[in-house]
Amino acid sequence: MRRMLVAGNWKMNGSLESIKSLLDGLKSGLSRSEVKCDVVVCPSSVYLPTVSEQIVDSAIKLGSQNICDQDGGAYTGEIAGSMLAEFGCQYAIIGHSERRALYAESDELVAKRFAAARRGKLTPILCVGELLEEREAGQTEAVVSRQLDAVIALEGIDALADAIIAYEPVWAIGTGKTASPDQAQEVHAFIRKKLAALNSDVASNIVIQYGGSVNGANANELFAMEDIDGGLIGGAALKPDDFLAICQAAT
Ligand code: 13P
Repeated sequence: MRRMLVAGNWKMNGSLESIKSLLDGLKSGLSRSEVKCDVVVCPSSVYLPTVSEQIVDSAIKLGSQNICDQDGGAYTGEIAGSMLAEFGCQYAIIGHSERRALYAESDELVAKRFAAARRGKLTPILCVGELLEEREAGQTEAVVSRQLDAVIALEGIDALADAIIAYEPVWAIGTGKTASPDQAQEVHAFIRKKLAALNSDVASNIVIQYGGSVNGANANELFAMEDIDGGLIGGAALKPDDFLAICQAAT
């Protein structure tokens, strides 16, 4: 039985003040609710220490937005898995489309970051997804396959037993244009079938989140689909009421 997971990717947003008020809202909302899914927040890395302190004694877990592919040394600007773990991170988002597109992270580099997360005992949240042009050209499955294959080639299929996949169609991110439940389900089912051909246990147990303009109003329909196991949430994760409604929809 897969456990639903809702993760908030705060991206490069927030301040000490706004983060405190967001967390206060989430903590009090969660303590009053019957939310049963796993709940993760992924702040900008400078805020990891304060968030880590503020979520002690709450149900909220901590994730990073990226991780260095190396374990330490002369890599200016990067953050190693051991450092993230020291501040209580249990998850690391890997290969987000903004990293792939704006910072030229290749499939191979993403795979190396995935490997580093595993070495650091962090659960990778591996993001995959197609651009609008790719969807329109009928290449969605080929793109998602290529992104998964790079990780499988480096780490092997069994490595996905400790991972989470987030299907995030790039055209749905931050656009307000979410994939329909059927569109998302189709790709999630494709991913699960692809993995099943290599290892059926991994395929049936892996959590596959959907991401891209999820909000309090559309989460129920998306999460009702058979192969959608929660969400990776951007904009709506910055608003306590919306994020709590999404967590409730995953319960
Ligand atoms: P939005 O929910 O703002 O579309 O962002 C999704 C996302 O990129 C989460 O990683």
